[in-house]
Amino acid sequence: MGVESSVTVLALTLLLFCLKSEASNCQPSEGVPLVKSIDELPQDNYGIPALSHITIAGSLLHGMKEVEVWLETIAPGSGTPIHRHSCEEVFVVLKGSGTLYLATNSHLEYPGQPQEFPFFANSTFHIPVNDAHQVWNTNQDEDLHFLVIISRPPIKAFIYNDWFMPHTAANLKFPIFWDEQCFQTPAKDEL
Ligand SMILES: *[C@@H]1O[C@H](CO)[C@@H](O)[C@H](O)[C@H]1NC(C)=O
Repeated sequence: MGVESSVTVLALTLLLFCLKSEASNCQPSEGVPLVKSIDELPQDNYGIPALSHITIAGSLLHGMKEVEVWLETIAPGSGTPIHRHSCEEVFVVLKGSGTLYLATNSHLEYPGQPQEFPFFANSTFHIPVNDAHQVWNTNQDEDLHFLVIISRPPIKAFIYNDWFMPHTAANLKFPIFWDEQCFQTPAKDEL
């Protein structure tokens, strides 16, 4: 075999290996133990420096149909964008503290000034469907660590620049940051 074909074989092998390992993150793969440690699940900031996100059980990642569970950490002085979604969402705060900003008047043209709800370790709260909200780590000293459970995955979030942006102008972010890789996988597999 010539040098050129050896290089080609190597390149193809690497390409197949990459495609395979990428795909295996996004499918309910055989051989993965039923009981696993969350320390072994993929963790990333998905391009958002103050975030750490783990999808514990996901629609695109694991084929979940009705619910999805995330474990997230947000650094001090940072938070989620202002956003809304038509799924149910429950937060369980494991460590740290912060503030929930919630605009409950979704029948108006824009969210408007939100109500502020301080929360702490062991706080839990749910977000009313379609209400614009933002979760912020307002604690300057400690990471905010929480579990999120959503219904009807994969999530379709509408993001606002500010609380006075009209609901109709909010930008759809779909797939959400951590769903992007698995959302594209079926198209890549067809190549
Ligand atoms: C949270 O709840 C658990 C279980 O009741 C308890 O052991 C822990 O001390 C609580 N943590 C805080 C910060 O209140």
